[in-house]
Amino acid sequence: MATGTEPHPNDGGVRGRTRAAIADRHLRTDRWWLAPAATVAGLLAFVVYSTWRAFANGDYYAAPYVSPFYSPCLSENCVPMEGGPNAALVGGWWTLSPALVILILPLGFRLTCYYYRKAYYRGFWASPPACAVAEPHRKYSGESRFPLILQNSHRYFFYAAVAVAAVLTYDALLTFRNADYEWGHMGLGTVVFLVNTVLIWAYTLSCHSCRHIVGGRLRHFSKHPVRYRMWGWVSRLNARHMELAWASLVSVALCDLYVYLLATGVFTDPRFF
Ligand code: FES
Repeated sequence: MATGTEPHPNDGGVRGRTRAAIADRHLRTDRWWLAPAATVAGLLAFVVYSTWRAFANGDYYAAPYVSPFYSPCLSENCVPMEGGPNAALVGGWWTLSPALVILILPLGFRLTCYYYRKAYYRGFWASPPACAVAEPHRKYSGESRFPLILQNSHRYFFYAAVAVAAVLTYDALLTFRNADYEWGHMGLGTVVFLVNTVLIWAYTLSCHSCRHIVGGRLRHFSKHPVRYRMWGWVSRLNARHMELAWASLVSVALCDLYVYLLATGVFTDPRFF
């Protein structure tokens, strides 16, 4: 009887060993390094831009637009925003940028995101750099120890991200005003904010934790038709999670850049009506 450990004519006689003895680091002949290199370039560009903007502590409001990096503005040193979602939760002792108060939530959400984890583990730590390419590290402890065990907090950051998305939706509604805060107006900035809001929601709802919250722990989908339907919608979004992660990252930066250019007087917001 075959035991599964005998040499086999089709596998060079290595069947039964734990791994094929391959001297090369990998056998891939495609440009596998392109994806991790592009990831590093894209994430670094965002980190540099967002760090500069978060510490700038200025040029984040041009009526009726508030930068998503600074909303909700929770510090006493926020610029006055008519009708804006700001509250002085952080007192006068806070002298740093108000963006540093709120950005912890979306930053934590993205840092612990399943997709971004894969992206930066591959891009920055080469762990592993790509499928079927050996990693340079000798030990692997996964996410079972500090600090990576903190990645398990993702579900809680998801709840926070829903709240932040709700605030950004409110901000987008406020853009149907003009600079004198009169309703019934629309400018190019309104379109920029609406697109960003849609992408932020799509990314947030495509989250794997969201999919589990909506459709997980059920024995019979047939007994939960509403949750089954919602699970189907979330699953369709979930299949595009990577694309939505990047699209929303770019859109939130562009939205902030739009407000910055208006606030610094580089151009004025084109008004449709
Ligand atoms: Fe990416 Fe939750 S898995 S946001």
